[in-house]
Amino acid sequence: MANVVVVGAQFGDEGKAKVTDLLANNADIVVRYQGGANAGHTVVVGDETYKFHLIPSGILYPGKICVLGPGMVIDPKAFIKEVKGLTDRGLDDSRLKVSSSAHVTMPYHMALDAAEEESRGDNKIGTTKRGIGPTYADKCARSGIRMEDLLDREVLKEKLDWMVPRKNVLLERMYNHPPFDAAAILEEYAEYGRQMSKYVCDTSQLIFNAVREKKNILFEGAQGTMLDLDHGSYPYVTSSSPSAGGACTGTGVGPTIIDRVIGISKAYMTRVGEGPFPTEQDGDIGEMLRQTGKAWAEVGVTTGRPRRCGWFDTVIGRYSVRVNGLDCLAITKLDVLDEFDEIQICVAYRDKTDGTIHKELPSMFSKFKQMEPIYKSFPGWKKPTYKIKNYKELPAEARRYLDFIAEELDCPVAIVSVGPTRDKTVVIEDPIHGPKRVLTQAVNP
Ligand code: IMP
Repeated sequence: MANVVVVGAQFGDEGKAKVTDLLANNADIVVRYQGGANAGHTVVVGDETYKFHLIPSGILYPGKICVLGPGMVIDPKAFIKEVKGLTDRGLDDSRLKVSSSAHVTMPYHMALDAAEEESRGDNKIGTTKRGIGPTYADKCARSGIRMEDLLDREVLKEKLDWMVPRKNVLLERMYNHPPFDAAAILEEYAEYGRQMSKYVCDTSQLIFNAVREKKNILFEGAQGTMLDLDHGSYPYVTSSSPSAGGACTGTGVGPTIIDRVIGISKAYMTRVGEGPFPTEQDGDIGEMLRQTGKAWAEVGVTTGRPRRCGWFDTVIGRYSVRVNGLDCLAITKLDVLDEFDEIQICVAYRDKTDGTIHKELPSMFSKFKQMEPIYKSFPGWKKPTYKIKNYKELPAEARRYLDFIAEELDCPVAIVSVGPTRDKTVVIEDPIHGPKRVLTQAVNP
């Protein structure tokens, strides 16, 4: 294999877990590098469905080491619950490693997340209320609690005695929230530390040693490029770095060890939470895409919120190819489009205020909000695709649709997923050992 980053190329929920799960077969170590229990990944193996929030989906393969990297924020209660759910189903947890530098989501982070959202009113972000933003805020303010602190009662006590009164001032005075008791938190979280100590280590060293032994590392992104704190639709983003660059900062490896970056996109698009979504469809089309009532309906794994649905957007696609340096794409959930008479793709935006056409994403958020999509229409294929195993067997209309995406994004489509299980996958080219993508030469406008 090689050292590969898998990133969401849209607004998250692209079906990364299924692709990660497929690629994990060839990896020795699977690493999550950012985010926390806000993520929700579903993997279907035979008749079994697994839902992950913190743990890399690679855990389903015996023998793979799964790492929660230093760029993550970890809610220990959620972690322990998730591990128990897996060990109850017979999975071996000795392969789990948690970075001693990962930050810990504390109960006051969750309370602040909810209170701040509430106070934003119409400007709310639509967070998952898992305390993600406030945990990363404390990390940046250099007052966060890290996994290593949970293992040392004295240090934890000192930090909590300083932090909790400050959080209480904010919570009580600004948000009318009852105060937290530092001593009670100390007891509860020291116990979590005790339970988690067997997983905690220097994961950067572990990965570096593995790279030297020519092992294969798979970096599993959560959320998606458009939710990236720096490169997404700020402020409607998460507080971490889901895009490919985050794989280095969030694990403690240098960029020179990364061989490939694979972007995952749905064959259409979804978003949960607030924020601009130019190709969103409210009516019947949105409902058809949402697949309500079906096994893989567009409902958030973490929050149960129905996802907003819309057509594939090549402007966002091109942007993702650029900011992630994608080598190839995996297009998921093609089968959801099987019943459509007509399928639309957004090829550019028109600025509603002055009529100008934009093939690239505007860098200013105020402009992004005023964009409306320009569509190209494709005839639907109106045939089931879920049994198809190779590209040539796909209906001609489906191939045309996929080829158009590859051409518009200037990035090959290597994998197409046509159903939730591992076998419902069409591999067009080997995403890891296939030819490395070469940037086409810029043409003068
Ligand atoms: P937070 O990450 O909970 O702070 O939420 C910030 C934004 O990211 C909200 O719009 C969430 O709906 C969105 N978000 C967070 N995690 C995910 C995810 O795993 N999939 C899709 N959207 C997410």
